[in-house]
Amino acid sequence: MSTTTTTGFTEGVRTATWIAPINIAVIKYWGKRDEALMLPANGSLSVTIDMSKMRAKTTALTSPSITTDRLWLNGKEVCAGDPGWARFQRCVDHLRHRAGQHNAHVHVCSENSFPTGAGVASSAAGYACLAMAVSDVIGLDCARENVSAAARLGSGSACRSVFGGFVLWERGEDGGTGGSESSIARQLFAEKHWPELRMVFLFVDERKKKVGSTDGMRRSMETSALMKARLESIPEKLVRMEDAIGRKDFAEFAEIAMRDSDQMHAVCLDTYPPIVYLRDTSHAVMALVTALNGACGRTVAGYTFDAGPNSVLFALDEDLPLLLAALKRFFPMPAEAEREVFERVGVDGVMSGEVERKVREGLDFDVWCGPSFSRVLLAEPGSGPQKLKDEDNCEGLLDVKTGLPKAK
Ligand code: PMV
Repeated sequence: MSTTTTTGFTEGVRTATWIAPINIAVIKYWGKRDEALMLPANGSLSVTIDMSKMRAKTTALTSPSITTDRLWLNGKEVCAGDPGWARFQRCVDHLRHRAGQHNAHVHVCSENSFPTGAGVASSAAGYACLAMAVSDVIGLDCARENVSAAARLGSGSACRSVFGGFVLWERGEDGGTGGSESSIARQLFAEKHWPELRMVFLFVDERKKKVGSTDGMRRSMETSALMKARLESIPEKLVRMEDAIGRKDFAEFAEIAMRDSDQMHAVCLDTYPPIVYLRDTSHAVMALVTALNGACGRTVAGYTFDAGPNSVLFALDEDLPLLLAALKRFFPMPAEAEREVFERVGVDGVMSGEVERKVREGLDFDVWCGPSFSRVLLAEPGSGPQKLKDEDNCEGLLDVKTGLPKAK
């Protein structure tokens, strides 16, 4: 491991600290058509999540004395050959090349405020943040579309986290390098477009998933016959989803999102050997949403699941008390959720007798007795990455005198 001396180090040091959001896809990206260029098999569409609870924070630092790249992630150094190193290099090399700074090296330190690799887009926030911070210190203009292309090389879905609000990642054209340039993300609607939209994150398991998305996607592309049908159905779904969001049509939005999530997980199950991300608790959540919508005779809530068992539920602000009351009635809740979510929204957990009876009829359990949620978080559509104003480097994760992570 290299050591960094302090002699003369502070001369010419440039540092920047950024925060970046996660995003939740409502039309999922599942499958690559080019792994090296990280070109997706299909276009995808996501909602960027506000950064109050979940975000990545990254400090990048350069100095003429730095002669190798180094990366620290959630308190641990990631070295050449470790998982994640090649992606980091790909992303940084791309930015160096664009800046024409072939000899510039960076130290990068990044932290997530939420579990990494548990299927809630931690890598999306991480790489969007890394690409912003590194662009900034090596003197690039930080234009979002350029940063987005670099973030994509770290983790596909990260290209969407570079924008706030509702974001489309185009599949792009085939052929030559054309695909790489045309497969970029762009904002469709700003975060203020639909301020009534709410997301409820239900964490079932916060551990790292067993089949990572890269391996899972590769396996699905190679073996799933359903994948072909899915890919054919995506262009039309993207158009319908953009239109539903534009018109703020919640019922249409929720239905397309649920069906797309179901389809992605069907493709996973159709993969050989099969990939099973959903658990009994995930299925119980799906059943509750279905039963609640049925009982109310309208779409109160929707769900989506990334590559993991954790659910993200959608509802409009006015229906949030009803959705939360239903969750509380049928699932045991962690004490923290009581304070953080239910008291804040003003939910006492009592459903109207008639709705409760109908929901109960649609479920094959009275109170869920399988594993329940470790955490429940409430979120809204949010903005893209932000630079922290940090003249004294109070927020920075790297010490400007040594270029190493600050002691905690
Ligand atoms: O960007 P990756 O490699 O973490 O893949 C993300 C895949 C999904 O989260 C399942 C879907 C998506 O579009 O975010």
